[in-house]
Amino acid sequence: MYNILLLGSGGREHSIAWALSKDERVKNLFCAPGNAGISSIAKSVSINILDNDLLYDFVIKNNINLIVVGPEQPLQNGVVNYFNDKGIKIFGPNEYASQLETSKLFARYIMEESNIPQPAFFECSDELEIFSLKNKLGFPLVLKADGLAAGKGVIICNNDDELNEAIDDMFINKKFGLASAKISVEECLKGEELSVFAICDGENYKIINSAQDHKRIYDNDKGPNTGGMGAYSPAPQFNNKLRKKVESNIIKPILSAMRDKGNPYKGFLYIGIMVENNEPYVIEFNVRLGDPEAQVLIPLVKSSFLDIILSSISGTLNNLEIELDDKYAVTIVLASDGYPESYEKGKQISGLNNLKTDIIFHAGTDIKNGKFITNGGRVLNVVALNKDLKSAINHAYALADKINFDNKYFRKDIASKAVKYLKEQDL
Ligand SMILES: Nc1ncnc2c1ncn2[C@@H]1O[C@H](COP(=O)(O)OP(=O)(O)O)[C@@H](O)[C@H]1O
Ligand SMILES: [Mg+2]
Repeated sequence: MYNILLLGSGGREHSIAWALSKDERVKNLFCAPGNAGISSIAKSVSINILDNDLLYDFVIKNNINLIVVGPEQPLQNGVVNYFNDKGIKIFGPNEYASQLETSKLFARYIMEESNIPQPAFFECSDELEIFSLKNKLGFPLVLKADGLAAGKGVIICNNDDELNEAIDDMFINKKFGLASAKISVEECLKGEELSVFAICDGENYKIINSAQDHKRIYDNDKGPNTGGMGAYSPAPQFNNKLRKKVESNIIKPILSAMRDKGNPYKGFLYIGIMVENNEPYVIEFNVRLGDPEAQVLIPLVKSSFLDIILSSISGTLNNLEIELDDKYAVTIVLASDGYPESYEKGKQISGLNNLKTDIIFHAGTDIKNGKFITNGGRVLNVVALNKDLKSAINHAYALADKINFDNKYFRKDIASKAVKYLKEQDL
């Protein structure tokens, strides 16, 4: 039997908690810090998840025998090394291996050594170098803060004004703090962007599924970047040929490189790719599931999610078959108007009680006087599954209409790219 501590507080963690809570072998499920929705299936624990000693006290007091990490910050903070040293099972990559996400340049150099297809990149730490690169690479030019920047540290510059502003943000105003002390300046790839999710145990891997996220706040990919406004899975563009290329040109060489570095990669590997002329190029790696991609990936997994996690830890992925539901999943993020900039909180949410049999994952919610209220920019994720993509989309939008709160905002075009693609392919 398992007493599990899950770390994180978003829609991704709600979906992980949802999958784990269905498993009979899970006796107690705790989530630190959790959110109002998660608290209906797991006990919320208010602990700073970046304080390993405090986590350890809790783990000992509550006989926790498995820790599952949702977001990247605790991984960067060495939570996996810490609990490995204590002999307590924990799922995810160690601090060194997490650099595939936590340092864009670490990832770029290791891909370069392993001949993994990626855009041309240059490490820079002052503006003069960037100006000479501008002459070499031209616009658009991509500037990436090396370190973690909560999904905001990448600026695509289309002209000199934008480039000057980006340089000021990175080096003078230090908008991303130490994360942009050095940056990766990159050639801008064009094409179709999609994400591939694999589970790895150091030696072996299995691709779980593909997905496409919607980063911008407005329809047709306009406006500023957000944490993600919706997603769908699988991405129909991810065909068998592309899958083979991703395996042989990206996943196998990166796992082998991490082994060579003495830090075999264990955990979820999120591979963000740009597909140009049917060739995949790596935009970035993440060392955990995406949010909102987890909200569509997880409901499609028919196998035990607990078994997937356990076989990554024990190095027995080769014995595991991951069975998927042969459907499309679509999630729409219901956000507070004004997000990703300023927005109001504390609005009462109505309609949730009538949706008890539907999949609704909470992100920024709280409970006040027994009622759900908004407590963040991204508030809720509605999820719908169907064999037919259009039906899944319609169902998800029907759910979005049934939930109400003041200043509710959501994109109206989630998954429309996939519909267009399927139509073009006549699938
Ligand atoms: N070299 C590149 N060429 C084209 N687009 C890029 C490139 N690098 C990043 N992007 C775009 O910027 C977004 C954010 O970059 P990414 O590397 O995923 O960083 P993060 O998710 O940490 O913000 C990507 O989803 C992609 O759309
Ligand atoms: Mg990204």
